[in-house]
Amino acid sequence: MDAKTQELRDAHDVLAEFYADLLADALEHMPVDRAVLNLFADLVLAADIGTSVGDVGCGTGRLEPYLAARGLSPRGADLSPGMVKVARRDHPEFVFDLADVRDLPFEDSSLAGVVCWYSLMYLTPSDRPAAFGELARVVKPGGYLATAHKAGDNQVTRAGRSTNLDVEFDLYWLSPDEMERRVTEAGFVPVFWAGRAAEEQEESAQGYLVAQKS
Ligand SMILES: C[S@@+](CC[C@H](N)C(=O)[O-])C[C@H]1O[C@@H](n2cnc3c(N)ncnc32)[C@H](O)[C@@H]1O
Repeated sequence: MDAKTQELRDAHDVLAEFYADLLADALEHMPVDRAVLNLFADLVLAADIGTSVGDVGCGTGRLEPYLAARGLSPRGADLSPGMVKVARRDHPEFVFDLADVRDLPFEDSSLAGVVCWYSLMYLTPSDRPAAFGELARVVKPGGYLATAHKAGDNQVTRAGRSTNLDVEFDLYWLSPDEMERRVTEAGFVPVFWAGRAAEEQEESAQGYLVAQKS
């Protein structure tokens, strides 16, 4: 594992309990996030290609109950052993794997969709083709990818310090154009774009993209 990925993984091991507390009920206060996840679920169900979906970079697994309540069968994967441990503890009815988005534990064309919720913002530009290509590999033709990310100008920033947990890692606030270009190059067709302003406790605007696998 390269040094940057190790740093990111170690930081998220430390952040796991912090996120479990901070984000446990966060969706209740995030109507735009809920709306995009609802759209993703509706599109996947309408495609009629199964209900199995991946939640890649699942963190504490907070999306699993929400996706399941919408008729999907989610399975989580995350780079951080600490996150996977918390997800398994807090959501024992779901399966969580330790995995990197660049090497997913899913068969080719085995999923009706994949959610990457604030989890693709850590990839260096040179790592993005492998990651988006891997997401395209595991989604069935006609299936969907839904992403949420901090929106910005693609510049790298150092993140983590604001938690006061003595962690730091690289983070890219991605532009909608960059997201669209990467998903398109990997074999998805964008079908929905959205963004919203930063809320009081947030440092950046948020971007959303839903794309269909060709
Ligand atoms: C901001 S958290 C979001 C977690 C979750 N999606 C949520 O919305 O609560 C980002 C997560 O992405 C994971 N992650 C970062 N890079 C990853 C990679 N290359 N492969 C898999 N997971 C990754 C981190 O470990 C972390 O759990």
